[in-house]
Amino acid sequence: MILSAKARIAGVMGWPVSHSLSPRLHGFWIERHQLDATYIPMPVPSDKFPAALRALPALGFAGANVTVPHKEAALATVDDATAEARALGAVNTIVVQKNGTLFGSNTDGQGFLANVRDFVPGWSARGKRVAILGAGGAAKAIAWTLHGEGADEVRIVNRTPDRAKALAASLGNRARAVDWDSSAGALADAALLVNATTLGMKGQPRLEIDLGPLPGDAIVADIVYNPLDTDLLLRARARGNPTVDGIGMLLHQARGGFNAWFGQEPVVDQALRDFVLAGL
Ligand SMILES: NC(=O)c1ccc[n+]([C@@H]2O[C@H](COP(=O)([O-])OP(=O)(O)OC[C@H]3O[C@@H](n4cnc5c(N)ncnc54)[C@H](OP(=O)(O)O)[C@@H]3O)[C@@H](O)[C@H]2O)c1
Repeated sequence: MILSAKARIAGVMGWPVSHSLSPRLHGFWIERHQLDATYIPMPVPSDKFPAALRALPALGFAGANVTVPHKEAALATVDDATAEARALGAVNTIVVQKNGTLFGSNTDGQGFLANVRDFVPGWSARGKRVAILGAGGAAKAIAWTLHGEGADEVRIVNRTPDRAKALAASLGNRARAVDWDSSAGALADAALLVNATTLGMKGQPRLEIDLGPLPGDAIVADIVYNPLDTDLLLRARARGNPTVDGIGMLLHQARGGFNAWFGQEPVVDQALRDFVLAGL
């Protein structure tokens, strides 16, 4: 695609950024919609990040994604942000406003929920008990969204108990921390189990968890997508639980930014999944 001088530009800032699938993902949609636009990787070290982000409006960028390790610094740098991003303390999507200011949001939680609904149409957390393994950035975003959806109880199970307690306390009522070694108590009568730890990822230890107490109809979601079929998902499938893999969360969380920057509502489908997975 040859760009015109009016091309819309966005990209992803991270350090390093070479592992990011976002250029591949947005590039696919740009091609599909035949847009006069581009989405570029921007490797930016931490000490240069605030200045680089503030330079986007002057450079004519429509916006950017922000990935590790800059999501917290992005919140501190933007001019305004959604209540969700402020609650999570992290921004992953930035839109340059017409007046040149930077507006930040965090799309991980909605991306997770949209992905669950791809697998289980119409699913809602309302009135349900959900168990989340992990209390890091992704777990926080998922917990916030499920809690906001009206989950009856959000159970946070984390290796470091203080992080689980802090996350549960930040959600307020209808949330509680569960010790890693007592995960059975979190799984019993849960409608959804989410792995939001790094366990099970290529190069990381296996996720050792006894699925015995989990109801047979509970959804098991893993946000790890490399490998796509994690050991957790294979074990859940073998006992008949519906499963949700992790790549769709990445794809869905990108939709809002693409729409805001390039003016098109992109679709997550099998062709996109296959194309992005081939980049792993
Ligand atoms: N599908 C998607 O779109 C998507 C989006 C975001 C993230 N992810 C994936 O989600 C995972 C978590 O990402 P993140 O950004 O939330 O990471 P993070 O903030 O670093 O959090 C990592 C979490 O994993 C736990 N953990 C790490 N090693 C562990 C171990 N040996 N035993 C038990 N728990 C362990 C940590 O527990 P402690 O608190 O005890 O350290 C923490 O809860 C990564 O694999 C990432 O690639 C996927």
